[in-house]
Amino acid sequence: MSKLIGAAVIGQSGGPSSVINSSAYGVIRTALDTPEITAVYGMAHGIKGILSDTLYDMSKEDPEELALLQNTPSSELGSCRYKIKEPEEDETDYKKILEIFKKYNIRYFFYNGGNDSMDTCNKVSRYMAKSGWECRVMGVPKTIDNDLYGTDHCPGFASAAKYIATSCAEVYKDAHVYDTGMITVIEIMGRNAGWLAGSAALAGVCGCAPDLVYLPEVDFDMDSFVAKVTDIYKKNGNCIVAVSEGIHYADGSLVSEAKASATDGFGHAQLGGLASMLTNIVKERTGAKVRAIELSLLQRCGAHLASQTDIDEAFLAGKAAVEAAVAGETGYMVAFERAVDENGKYLCKTKLLPLTAVANYEKKVPLEWINETGDGVTQEFIDYVLPLIAGENHRKTEFGLPRFAHLKKIVAK
Ligand code: F6P
Repeated sequence: MSKLIGAAVIGQSGGPSSVINSSAYGVIRTALDTPEITAVYGMAHGIKGILSDTLYDMSKEDPEELALLQNTPSSELGSCRYKIKEPEEDETDYKKILEIFKKYNIRYFFYNGGNDSMDTCNKVSRYMAKSGWECRVMGVPKTIDNDLYGTDHCPGFASAAKYIATSCAEVYKDAHVYDTGMITVIEIMGRNAGWLAGSAALAGVCGCAPDLVYLPEVDFDMDSFVAKVTDIYKKNGNCIVAVSEGIHYADGSLVSEAKASATDGFGHAQLGGLASMLTNIVKERTGAKVRAIELSLLQRCGAHLASQTDIDEAFLAGKAAVEAAVAGETGYMVAFERAVDENGKYLCKTKLLPLTAVANYEKKVPLEWINETGDGVTQEFIDYVLPLIAGENHRKTEFGLPRFAHLKKIVAK
């Protein structure tokens, strides 16, 4: 494979996570240190930054501030949920992308995101191959939902899982404080895949398991839910339920549908409000004191509880993407493979998956990892997640508060 000399560009897309910036740092740091890469740009708000010619010059950033990206939650370059058309249908966006690639001599394109972002990455890859402009395109995985196909797990998932498990354990302690009882419903993100909701069960490892856990992989039945909650409440004087925002009835309609509002560029409804709805229903039927807790954005930006394993692996994914592209690869997403060392200790290795195989597929929780009554997960699920959430993050603080990266974000001309 011949050497490809030119600039690199990195973009972040889709919902953020606690560690997506660690992946961006993996790309940026490695690219800045690679002789073949002549300049490194960051897209402002993902692909929209290319379309609007708003690229940040990463070489102008202070290296120490860049390093702080590893402990800065959310997508520091800005994100988007923008669906580009099929190149065969409408070339407008692609012509602009090519124009910008030529303007900055961009030969390496890195896109950091989940399913929809890999769809964008795949389309850009296809178009570039057809256009004759040599540009190596690589996807860098990210999603708290953990639903990317072909990878053992996704950067961002473990930190959200750790936040959820810890919060559920802490809520358990609080919810058991009075002798008068309470029913608590905790709503967890994850749309169509129950990896995050299932992670609530990890609170059981520290003796604080939720009583019921509902995943979107199993059809929801309101009568059975109310009956189970009522039984547990009557028996124990307390009941804690963890529920995925994406639970739906057998006909596919979302339980939270009444609350779903506008959709994003990919047609996904914004979910939420489910915990309140469910607690209102059980309050009416039982008369119990109830509390609805929506973990909402906290679960994906709670960097103070990030898993160090996740931070390190997110960095690794970005670094591996640059190394593979410079070595001549294009049209792939970096994925993870689980391994063990000679002492049986968890190890994570990277591999490459064709973008065509990844784009638009969702990896759900295997049904064998959900219990027979459809209201909890099995030990296999717990064993799968536990190694990923290991490791505490000792991040930089100032005045007792997190010290996030402050980037200058100088727009390239
Ligand atoms: O990116 C995944 C995710 O965090 C989902 O779990 C959630 O439903 C969705 O994003 C929310 O997206 P937004 O912040 O765009 O409303």
